[in-house]
Amino acid sequence: MTTITHIGDLQALAKKRVPRMFYDYVDSGSWTETTYRENESDLQAIRFRQRVAVDIAKRSTATTMIDVPVSMPVALAPTGLTGMQHADGEILAARAAERFGVPFTLSTMSICSIEDVAAQTAAPFWFQLYMMKDRDFIRSLINRAKAANCGALMLTLDLPVGGQRHKDIRNGLSAPPKPTLANLLNLATKPGWCKGMLGTRRYGFGNIVGHVKGVEDVSTLSAWTMAQFDPSLNWRDVEWVKKEWGGKLILKGILDAEDAQRGVDCGADSVVVSNHGGRQLDGASSTISALPAVVDAIGSRAEVWMDGGVRSGQDVLKALALGARGTMIGRAFLYGLGAMGEAGVTRCLEIIHKELDVSMALCGRTDVQSIDRETLLSHTLPA
Ligand code: FNR
Repeated sequence: MTTITHIGDLQALAKKRVPRMFYDYVDSGSWTETTYRENESDLQAIRFRQRVAVDIAKRSTATTMIDVPVSMPVALAPTGLTGMQHADGEILAARAAERFGVPFTLSTMSICSIEDVAAQTAAPFWFQLYMMKDRDFIRSLINRAKAANCGALMLTLDLPVGGQRHKDIRNGLSAPPKPTLANLLNLATKPGWCKGMLGTRRYGFGNIVGHVKGVEDVSTLSAWTMAQFDPSLNWRDVEWVKKEWGGKLILKGILDAEDAQRGVDCGADSVVVSNHGGRQLDGASSTISALPAVVDAIGSRAEVWMDGGVRSGQDVLKALALGARGTMIGRAFLYGLGAMGEAGVTRCLEIIHKELDVSMALCGRTDVQSIDRETLLSHTLPA
C-alpha cells in the first residue's frame, strides 16, 4: 500500500496507473512550458511571516465563494476529458467535492455530460462554458445547465485559439485517441484502469456528441469541436452570456487588471486570475504575480479567485494573503483521480485542507477572513 502524504505522492501514483497519453495530457503546458513551471515556482518563492504565542486553539477554514458556503476556499477547476483519468471521472470528482463541501466545476469538454453529473450528485455544481461559433448550441448548453440546477456559470475567456502542447501531438491525443502501436500497448498494459472508457461513449465529449445535428458520433466530434472555438469572442459576447444565463457569472482566464475591470462592467460576480494552468499563452506571467494588481483593480466590486500551480494548502494561503477570496485546483485533483478514483480526490482535498489549517495556525491566523498581506514576508513577494 503506497503512503500518500502530499500531492506529489498522488502525482507519482497517477503516473504509474494512468495510460501515458492521458497522464501527459494533464502534466504538460504549452510550448516551452515556462508559464506552466512558473505558476508553481513563483508560489514556492513566497515566504510566510511565522507568528507565535497567538491563541489559535479555535480555527476554521470555512468561508463562502460567491455566497456558496465552502469548507475551505478551494473549488475544483473545470478540466476537459476528466473521464480519461478514470472512468466516470467527472462524477467521481463531483461526489468527492460534494462530500468535502467544496464546489465542483464541470467543463464543456467533459466526458460525462451535465445530465450524467446532475443525476449522480445532490449539490449544485458549476458549469464552465467555452464560447463556440454555434450560438444556438451555446444557448442550449446554458439552458441545460439551468435545467440541471447549476449554481453558477463560468465563462472561460483565455482560449479563443488553442495553445500547443507538444506531448499531446506526439502521443496522438484526440477523441478517440489515435490507434498507434505505443498507445495500444500502453492501454493494453493498464486494462483495469481503462475499463469502461474503451466504449465509444466514454471517449466522446458528453455535452456535445448527440446534441448537435451532424455530430452524432465520436469520429466527427473532434473536427466539429476544434473548429467551433470562437476567435471573435469579445466583451459583447460576455454581456450576451450574462443576459442569457441570468445567474451568477464567473469569468475565468484573466491576467490583466484592465480586462478584469471590463469583466466586472459586463456583470461578472467573480473573476478568476488564471492562465489556464500554463496551457495557453506560454510566456504570460504566473498567476500569483498577476493576482495583486487584479485585486487592487476590482477587489471591492467582485470576488477575485486564482488558480495555477496550487499544489498545497500553503499555496492556497499565499493566494489568500495576496487578496484572493478563493482558489481553484486543476492538476492536484486530477492526480488524485488518476491515482485512486474518488478516494484520491478526497485524499487530495484532505491533504490541502490540513496543510492550510496548520499553516494558517503557524502564521497566527484562526480564520480565513483574517488572512492578509501581513501574513507574508513582503521582500519575497512577486514584483
Ligand atoms: C484545464 N483547464 C481547463 N479550463 C477550462 O476552463 N476548461 C477546460 O476544459 C479546461 N481543461 C483543462 C484540462 C486539463 C488537463 C488541465 C490541467 C487544465 C484549466 C483549469 O481549469 C485550471 O485553470 C488549471 O488547471 C489551473 O492550474 P493547475 O491547478 O492545474 O496548476
